[in-house]
Order: sequence, then structure tokens, then C-alpha cells
Amino acid sequence: IASARQIAAACDDIAALEAAIRAFDGCPLKAGAMNTVIADGIFGADLLLVGEAPGADEDRLGRPFVGRAGQLLDRMLAAIGRDRGRDAYIANILFWRPPANRKPDPVETATCKPFVERLIQLARPKVLILLGGTPAATLLGTSEGITRLRGRWHEVEGIPALPTLHPAYLLRQPQAKREAWRDFLAVKRRLDGGNP
Ligand code: URA
Repeated sequence: IASARQIAAACDDIAALEAAIRAFDGCPLKAGAMNTVIADGIFGADLLLVGEAPGADEDRLGRPFVGRAGQLLDRMLAAIGRDRGRDAYIANILFWRPPANRKPDPVETATCKPFVERLIQLARPKVLILLGGTPAATLLGTSEGITRLRGRWHEVEGIPALPTLHPAYLLRQPQAKREAWRDFLAVKRRLDGGNP
């Protein structure tokens, strides 16, 4: 973990950071993955979303959020006037797919965390959305669950961060979309320059 932090700190731009992540062998998940999945969308956009980990589609294509959860996420972004091809940047807390999409373990998230923190520092978004309990707990350093964390503003690397429900959860529990919608509207207000 210390070495991931040192490697990340030495990266002065996103190209160097991406190369360092691809060359990093300290996360055991890498051996079982087809691809290293780092980010998609517009680096430097004022909105950065951080999800959990690549699934099968993401692992195959090497891009985050391209499966069913990603399609829902794109619709949620469109509802607040955002598009990853224009004004959003999307990453995950893990760069490699866990076997059979199991929950990441704390060692895996701790190993990747310094790289994600560096990515946030370099991207300097105005607002951060944490998609689900794994990125929220990892980046906020808490064991609180997402249902308690969501909808309240926190700070990560000095940037306002709003945890919300993960789109894969919303696919299983569509009635929870109301809460996620409230969170996305709060993000829109903040991006538009209003108060939270
Ligand atoms: N779920 C995530 O958290 N990230 C992805 O990239 C895809 C699905």
C-alpha cells in the first residue's frame, strides 16, 4: 500500500498515472482480469463519478460502466443534462474485475485507493459522486453503509462528494430510484452554482 501511494504521488499527469496503474502488480485481482479498467469520459470535467469495480462487460471492453448498470447510469446523467462524451468523467475504486463479480475485499480497495485519490487530485472536479457503498466507505474511511451515507455531502481530497445508490442496485430495487434521483438533483444544483 505504501508503494502504491509513492507511485501515485510521483505521477504528475493523467497519462503517467494511467501508465503507472497498468504497470502496477500489487493488486492480486490483476492476474484474473482481461483488462485494466481505469476511466471513461472527459478528464477534467467538473463532475467525476467513482463506482465499484469492472464487471464482465467492462473487463472485456476495458472501459467502466458499459454494461446494464452503465446504461442506467448514462440515463441518470442525461436526466441532469450530462453526458460522459461531453461533460462527465467516470472511474471505479478498483481497476480489475473481482472473480465472478464478488464484493471487493478491504485489502483490494486499500491497495487501489491511493491511485484513485491521485486521479481525483489530478482531475480536480467540482463535484464527486460516489456510486454505492464500496467507493463511499473506501474514500470516506467509514464503515457506515450506503443507506446511511447517501444524500449527505462529504469531502474527498477537498472536493464535495455525494454518496448515492449504485445503479446495479437500482436495477434490482427500482423503487429506490427516487432517492438516487434526489441525489442527482442535488448534484445538479451544486454544479449549477447553487447551494447544496
Ligand atoms: N459497476 C461498477 O461499479 N463499475 C463498473 O464499471 C461497472 C459496473
